[in-house]
Amino acid sequence: MAKAPVIAVVGSASMDLTCYADVLPQAGQTLYGNLFTTGFGGKGANQAVMAALAGANVYMVGSVGNDLFGKSLQENFRNQNINSEFVKVSELPTGVAHIWVDAQGQNRILIVPGANHGFDENHAASAITSIPDLSIVIGQCEIPQSVTIAAFTVAKKRGAITILNPAPYQELSDDLLAVTDWLIPNEIEFEEFVGEAPTSETLARFRTGKNSIVTLGDKGAVLISPDGTLTSIATTSVQAIDSTGAGDCFIGSFSYSLASGSDAKSAAEFACRIAAVSVTRKGAQSSYPTTAEISTLS
Ligand code: RIB
Repeated sequence: MAKAPVIAVVGSASMDLTCYADVLPQAGQTLYGNLFTTGFGGKGANQAVMAALAGANVYMVGSVGNDLFGKSLQENFRNQNINSEFVKVSELPTGVAHIWVDAQGQNRILIVPGANHGFDENHAASAITSIPDLSIVIGQCEIPQSVTIAAFTVAKKRGAITILNPAPYQELSDDLLAVTDWLIPNEIEFEEFVGEAPTSETLARFRTGKNSIVTLGDKGAVLISPDGTLTSIATTSVQAIDSTGAGDCFIGSFSYSLASGSDAKSAAEFACRIAAVSVTRKGAQSSYPTTAEISTLS
């Protein structure tokens, strides 16, 4: 049996506090919701869990608070077979995400980073230096960019591939782009980058000098090569009830597949199949297919 690829995620881990409602309130309005849940989230932790479920040997590099949420997140890493020796316990409270999901399964998310901003460049760089047999390092934008730059810089020196999910959107520093191999925004983040919605024209103009993928929800994804060549990836048509964490599901499964030796198109097709399942279930990590289910989707 092939050895599991080693993937490190440098990023956020948060507790998701989610309200489901048919209609979401406007400013000053009070409405009834249908359901409230707490669940494991944070874009980094979601990507780590998905990569582990797919079969990778995953290391999480991040920080949680010294509180009940932090202890739960740590226990979740253990339960998901994720190495959490580089998850620091910070004096800051564990990060939380307040999430509203409407009847169409679309979400609105407000994050309070807390301990996700409680670890620094040295911690990230020394973690990435010491992880054996590293194939891929994944980052997002729920921690300071300087920390991701430090981790990616070491990763590149070691010959690992770096994958940046620029979420939530923020302007990316040249230093971060310089150490990023793959840039994977969703359609909203793409629009924030270029000022226009994704179309074949605007996608072809998205020249970052990187390999990119724009995820397009129920329209699948588009691979963009550094010279602007587009490759469309179709997805399965499903009845979506909650899209929370679907992008993270894509990133975790894409990274696993790429690290396992698949070409980018096959890895993106695999990731679209897995992410399509996730939107049919509630929550972020709670919506991800199990390892047994994944084997039927490969
Ligand atoms: O991408 C989904 C995630 O964004 C949620 O789990 C929430 O924690 C926010 O970070």
